[in-house]
Amino acid sequence: MSEYILFEWDEEFNTGIPEIDNQHKALVGLLNSLFNLLREGKARNEVSEALNQLTAYSEVHFKTEEAFFIQYSYPETETHIACHNAFIDKIDSFRDQMTGSNLTLSIDVFKYLKLWLQEHILGEDMKYRDYFKEQGITV
Ligand SMILES: [Fe+2]
Repeated sequence: MSEYILFEWDEEFNTGIPEIDNQHKALVGLLNSLFNLLREGKARNEVSEALNQLTAYSEVHFKTEEAFFIQYSYPETETHIACHNAFIDKIDSFRDQMTGSNLTLSIDVFKYLKLWLQEHILGEDMKYRDYFKEQGITV
């Protein structure tokens, strides 16, 4: 079965901060992989491993951003961290839906994850990109 690209990377998602862009691309890759594993009806251990990877990597990525916010006194740190926490909570609730023999995640879940990531990058993430730029901060 050929791979389906749920979230296709596009130039518009680049912040111009290499570490962040690389992490965003990796996150998108993990989301696409998870989608394909479910689509192909892969075994539980593979699917839950992929979901764990997505969660773990989201946390790593969010911590990277949050460390920059604190280091450079980003004024919207608290609001941005609240968005991250809400996302982690949402992934946790999706994991809870996959219990027992129920290995499915609805298409709505993927629509949510994809849209959240796209809107978050284009919205919240570009705000700190602009702030760093204005302040002459090179990350
Ligand atoms: Fe973020």
